[in-house]
Amino acid sequence: MQKLLVTGASGFVGSRVVQALKDKYSLLTPTHSEMEITDTMSVEKYIAANEPQIILHLAAISNTGYCEEHPDESYRVNVQGVENLAIAAERIGAKFVFFSSDQVYNGCCQRGLLDEDTPIAPENHYGRHKLLAEKRAAELCSSSVALRATWMYDSPKEGMYTHPNFVTNIKRAIEQQTPLRFATREFRGITWIDEVVKNLPHTFSLPAGVYNFGAENRLNTYETAHAYCTLLGHDAEAIIVADEARFPEHERNISISMKKVAAASDGAIQFCDTIAGLKKYEANMKK
Ligand SMILES: NC(=O)c1ccc[n+]([C@@H]2O[C@H](COP(=O)([O-])OP(=O)(O)OC[C@H]3O[C@@H](n4cnc5c(N)ncnc54)[C@H](OP(=O)(O)O)[C@@H]3O)[C@@H](O)[C@H]2O)c1
Repeated sequence: MQKLLVTGASGFVGSRVVQALKDKYSLLTPTHSEMEITDTMSVEKYIAANEPQIILHLAAISNTGYCEEHPDESYRVNVQGVENLAIAAERIGAKFVFFSSDQVYNGCCQRGLLDEDTPIAPENHYGRHKLLAEKRAAELCSSSVALRATWMYDSPKEGMYTHPNFVTNIKRAIEQQTPLRFATREFRGITWIDEVVKNLPHTFSLPAGVYNFGAENRLNTYETAHAYCTLLGHDAEAIIVADEARFPEHERNISISMKKVAAASDGAIQFCDTIAGLKKYEANMKK
């Protein structure tokens, strides 16, 4: 079995990755206190002692609002943390894969699905730091693969951390009969975590580079929420409210195109589009 180090193993993505891959890899899952990613020595020491063949770096501050309010901490964790792991991976010749975000496209004015060559200048600290991390990782580690993930969802699962997400927010609104607002001027992919986890092992053999990694979506967020509520058999008109005022400056389009990663993996990496993914998720919930 290959030795796979997963950072952030207690998080939303990490806890599901560990569950799915625990029988396929020899997993190393240091806790935050066992490996502090902002501490160069802590990272070097752990990696030199354990020599993983693959490093899947998921530890981060993933909350965009928190990063906006705490830019220095966001920089330390989301940029310097990546640098430390990238340097350590290069030193031992490990494959380095880490999660960036579709938030790097935040600020794009063009419409349609965005590819990795789209000129970008992220408008928030989280997006700027993820973009900087991609660049630094590519400079520091010759095998670096950065995955621009979308907003991900899953239902709460025992022993796994789950932050509020698209499906839990809508299900709670239905349960409490509390209308929820969704932007008509926002376009983004929203992805079932199962699809992310299933595709992940294929990323370990991708050529170094930056790849979009998640569900495509041509609908706006209001239309997506409306369709999901209808799929659940509820009156979407009563629950899902069109927020036409949000993003007044320009539409927010962070919806990704999946062509590059599909081609680079010879078709092995495939995601359903957002609505098909939601249907698949609900069908799975009924099993
Ligand atoms: N969730 C999404 O929808 C989404 C969307 C796009 C991209 N992403 C990216 O995907 C990756 C995984 O996200 P996630 O949702 O799983 O995040 P998460 O649930 O917030 O988990 C973050 C993990 O990082 C660990 N961590 C934080 N700071 C650390 C530090 N200084 N040293 C060591 N460990 C540290 C946390 O451990 P403790 O809790 O013990 O501190 C936790 O295990 C991140 O890079 C995130 O930016 C996520």
